[in-house]
Amino acid sequence: MKLVTAIVKPHKLDEVKEALQELGVQGLTVSEVRGYGRQRGHNEIYRGAEYTVEFVPKVKLEILVDTPMVEEAVDAVVKAAQTGQVGDGKVFVTDVERIVRIRTAEQNVEAL
Ligand SMILES: Nc1ncnc2c1ncn2[C@@H]1O[C@H](COP(=O)(O)OP(=O)(O)OP(=O)(O)O)[C@@H](O)[C@H]1O
Ligand SMILES: [Mg+2]
Repeated sequence: MKLVTAIVKPHKLDEVKEALQELGVQGLTVSEVRGYGRQRGHNEIYRGAEYTVEFVPKVKLEILVDTPMVEEAVDAVVKAAQTGQVGDGKVFVTDVERIVRIRTAEQNVEAL
């Protein structure tokens, strides 16, 4: 099992969510975050205004998937979130040791 974490532009959230739903992803977590990349937050346009501060609003998605789904999930996020402009974000994949569905105590792939 893997955790796919994606940091994307806020206005891309719905498109990313829909792309993941089409793949059959069962759930996801969204957080409003702020950050910067190589441009240190400069020269990024957010809602029409150029941000001169260091931190730019982004949305972080966390998606637990079974390992065979990882490539598809990453591809779907990249395709849906890409504008080609700076600040499009990052996707990264980490190993997940254990998942438990709290209601039933089901474990791992059964808990997805
Ligand atoms: N090295 C990093 N560590 C943690 N978070 C990062 C890192 N780089 C970028 N991020 C997060 O991703 C968001 C988007 O980064 P961004 O797309 O600007 O990366 P970039 O490497 O500068 O690429 P680009 O040149 O396309 O802008 C940042 O606002 C930040 O939240
Ligand atoms: Mg950048």
